[in-house]
Amino acid sequence: MKQAFNFNAGPCVLPKQAIENTVKALYDFDNTGIGIAEISHRTPGWEKLMADTRQLWRDLLNIPAEYEVLFLGGGASTGFMDVPANLLNKKAAYLQTGVWAKKAAKEAKLFGETVIVASSEDKTYTYIPKGWTVPTEIRKDFNASEINNVMLVADMSSDIMSRPVDVKKYGLIYAGAQKNVGPAGVTVYIVKKDILGKITDRQYMNPLPTMVDFRTHAAEEAKNISMFNTPPVINIYMMYETLKWVKETVGGVEAMNKINVKKSAMLYEEIDRNSMFIGTAEKDSRSIMNHCFVMAPGREDLQDAFMAFAKERGMVGIKGHRSVGGFRASLYNACPIEAVEALVQCMQDFEKANK
Ligand SMILES: Cc1ncc(COP(=O)(O)O)c(C=O)c1O
Repeated sequence: MKQAFNFNAGPCVLPKQAIENTVKALYDFDNTGIGIAEISHRTPGWEKLMADTRQLWRDLLNIPAEYEVLFLGGGASTGFMDVPANLLNKKAAYLQTGVWAKKAAKEAKLFGETVIVASSEDKTYTYIPKGWTVPTEIRKDFNASEINNVMLVADMSSDIMSRPVDVKKYGLIYAGAQKNVGPAGVTVYIVKKDILGKITDRQYMNPLPTMVDFRTHAAEEAKNISMFNTPPVINIYMMYETLKWVKETVGGVEAMNKINVKKSAMLYEEIDRNSMFIGTAEKDSRSIMNHCFVMAPGREDLQDAFMAFAKERGMVGIKGHRSVGGFRASLYNACPIEAVEALVQCMQDFEKANK
């Protein structure tokens, strides 16, 4: 197979063992002789798989009993609507630290008063808005008391499972799976059950349609959790295998975080050292998942040349976001250290060739 170093922003590289085991399960799930996409989701084997996957989430992120873990279809973008539908009674505050947060806030406005408390949109989300200690990727857990005891909700699509999270500080965390925990098409919601069903004042979508109401999915009986309708079985199965890899092969989220910090530092070190490139995010706002850089001033004419140079050496997915240009290398959990070494080497070789 052709060697490719995959830096895609999501969907992105996934653990090889998760892919291999999912392929096996597509042929034969749980020694039934029937593939995962072909069985009924109401079989005991599948109900156990759902329970085991929830348990992996609980073990890895230390999720307290008063929270439910849901696996729903629709992507994180559906969460932009589902979350305010379930929680926005009067007013919501959004920290607009990226294009996704902007899209999320737009949906919230359909449900009630929505305030953008800080935004770094004026500089394409490359800095921490003043007056807030909120970087583009938050990388820490706020205390609700730091911000007037509000209920905290976070879209962690880009960094879930990359570091330990203090779940107790949140009312709800959600994430599309396709960066660190599996393929696109399933979204994880970690929700404190007692915050649900509290919409009293709202005119619109009150009562909630059945599928939108998280209480439908956070069912009393374990076998019905995330099973009101047919769940995206292949996606959840692959998530199960990906989480098993984090837990058993990597050794948990603390270990995962250490590897991620190391990979990220290697790349930023090269971006800062190399005379050809500069990083776009302010240093204290840097993400350890997504690394954005552009050609250094005076070197802009070499952008296409570097892209071709990198492509020739097997680098995939480093073209920058439309809004920023340049390059973006995503180093999600399953991105091996060898890929980062190859990219660093490629940047060094390019510098030598063009000095
Ligand atoms: C932070 C964040 N939120 C939401 C999304 C959208 O996710 P989906 O395509 O699953 O709707 C993305 C996708 O990259 C993202 O990075």
